[in-house]
Amino acid sequence: MLPTHRPRRNRKSEVIRDMVQETRLTTHDFIFPLFLIEGQNQALEVKSMPGIYRYSADKIIEEVGQCVELGIKTFAPFPSINDSLKDRLAKESANPEGLYLKTVADIKRQFPEVVLMTDVAMDPYSSDGHDGVVDADSGEILNDATLEVLGQMALAQARAGADIIGPSDMMDGRVAWIRRVLDENAFSHVSIMSYTAKYASAFYGPFRDALDSAPKKGDKKSYQMNPANKREALRELALDEAEGADMVMIKPALSYLDVIHAVKERTHLPVTAYNVSGEYAMVKAAAQNGWLDGEKTMMEVLTSIKRAGADAILTYFAKEAAAVLRRG
Ligand code: PBG
Repeated sequence: MLPTHRPRRNRKSEVIRDMVQETRLTTHDFIFPLFLIEGQNQALEVKSMPGIYRYSADKIIEEVGQCVELGIKTFAPFPSINDSLKDRLAKESANPEGLYLKTVADIKRQFPEVVLMTDVAMDPYSSDGHDGVVDADSGEILNDATLEVLGQMALAQARAGADIIGPSDMMDGRVAWIRRVLDENAFSHVSIMSYTAKYASAFYGPFRDALDSAPKKGDKKSYQMNPANKREALRELALDEAEGADMVMIKPALSYLDVIHAVKERTHLPVTAYNVSGEYAMVKAAAQNGWLDGEKTMMEVLTSIKRAGADAILTYFAKEAAAVLRRG
């Protein structure tokens, strides 16, 4: 019997394939993470992330300018802080004259149309390398003591001009806490994109290299989620919605496409996904070895994340993918 149904007819030419294509990436989908360092005229490549640099404040302005030219309008800066400025309570995180907040203000001054999503978590500023306050005796991560620090950090970021606050720390109750602090200080217009389901993942290695932010002791499993769990992500989603998050995020992306899908089915909030450093590094490493076509793999990865349900993607590929999209 010859087939009566022939799905291949919808694939027979490029025009037809384009017509029936279900998911299309655009440069509007991308949020580009940026790494900041002290100094001047510095652009240091992250060894485990070929093509990604840590920039000093002057250089970051050039980089943002190039990205804006390509149509990227949203950025997520992260700071690499000198060890001498780190302490138990991450005090440097609320210093308006510090590297991070000064650079945020500077980017907003030079590019008022750009949207900045600032990161709220203690790890870049913590002498313990954890996202929360560490109890000196027990080594435990203290949830409610951390909320105080996060609230002050978020407020300082709002004052510096942040458009979106991105709590990546996974403490309980932080979205409600930050929302209250912002509202009480006349920042009700500042949004919160919650890292709703952030997993205790091995894929963050290159990021921790870039920021020198790995935990000094222990791991992050008492606050970041177990990679084996999906229903727990839906519980976090319900809490973030109730606490007032404007957008939710799943992180990492590629090994968690099912979680992105499940969250998308259950929320009316915009869903974002973080295509993290290790996911970037894998593609780059294979491409450098000639084992994969780097550009095609990049576009396939990003399309898959969008197909799974992400409305926006934080990705180190943003600039490269924007250039590919522009080329057509
Ligand atoms: C920490 C934070 C991490 C990332 C973003 N914020 C790492 C961690 O939790 O240790 C990782 C991002 C990436 O790997 O690209 N607050």
